[in-house]
Amino acid sequence: MKEQVEKIKKEIDTYKAESQEKLEEYRLRFISKKGKLSTLFNELKNVPSEGKREMGQVLNELKNSAKAKFQQLIENLEEKENSFGTSSIDLTLPSSYYTLGSAHPITSTRNRIVSIFEKLGFNVSEGPEIEDDWHNFTALNFPPNHPAREMQDTFFIEKEPDITLRTHTSSVQVRVMENQKPPIRTLSPGRVFRNEAISARAHCVFHQVEGLYVDKNVSFVDLKQTLYYFAQEMFGKDTKIRYRPSYFPFTEPSAEIDISCNICKGDGCNICKYSGWVEIAGSGMVDPNVLANCNIDPEEYTGFAFGMGIERITMLKYQINDLRLFTENDIRFLKQFRTVSS
Ligand code: PHE
Repeated sequence: MKEQVEKIKKEIDTYKAESQEKLEEYRLRFISKKGKLSTLFNELKNVPSEGKREMGQVLNELKNSAKAKFQQLIENLEEKENSFGTSSIDLTLPSSYYTLGSAHPITSTRNRIVSIFEKLGFNVSEGPEIEDDWHNFTALNFPPNHPAREMQDTFFIEKEPDITLRTHTSSVQVRVMENQKPPIRTLSPGRVFRNEAISARAHCVFHQVEGLYVDKNVSFVDLKQTLYYFAQEMFGKDTKIRYRPSYFPFTEPSAEIDISCNICKGDGCNICKYSGWVEIAGSGMVDPNVLANCNIDPEEYTGFAFGMGIERITMLKYQINDLRLFTENDIRFLKQFRTVSS
């Protein structure tokens, strides 16, 4: 029996419990009612009476140390489960790779344009994308059935000939003039819609930023200088600017604005079609009829307005040659703008 005790003692001493299952196994094997220790105690009755006392003591010691060991195993296991070093987290593994999102190039260009004009005191106004005829056309001096309406291939809402998807954000400017008193200096960035076939150069949904400045004594010089400042901030200090006479129903006189091609620096390339100039915006002095339509006295106030396509500015700035890239959401394209901030 002594031998048996020694054997069990060794087993207990060397037992390791790395899991709850192992711990339970220890309990069942040694200290439960059916465990090895109970069996030994049962055998005590067979020990001759002169050795019984001594053997009793040995068994009691074994029982105590088995219980102490059980306690120890519980504590070790708890410690192991709570500590980072030995649990399932391996601090030596390389960390997981988190990709940071980034602003879409149209968004960053929009923000850049807004921040340039903000320095000149322009605020931002927004308006609905579904517009009525008055705000998109009539107030802007497009008479009914005037061919100028054909300039913008309009989406009409079925059965509601008076409701359109806005073709430009000039409609927001009408809303601002109707609701605010001059001086007004506002930008209206937003989505616009035109019924055009999708190609590398055109899309049926695109973005514009339009600007409006109405106050006493606003002149064409203010318009020129404002857009010159913008062009230099956006495309670099050596950017030149030129005005070409044009026509818009809501401005008189009207001009299209070109900048010197920032790609070939004026030498001629396929982006500027070898002219050295690229168009960036339409502009002009607000037609007195438009001011009057919005209850602003054209005898007292004058104003200028301009409008540009955000896609176009982005394409020129980053030399992108296909407009469709902006809406395809190809991660290889978008990733290239990760560091562009507003
Ligand atoms: N609304 C014009 C367009 O969408 C742009 C523009 C705005 C032109 C303001 C002149 C003045 O084409």
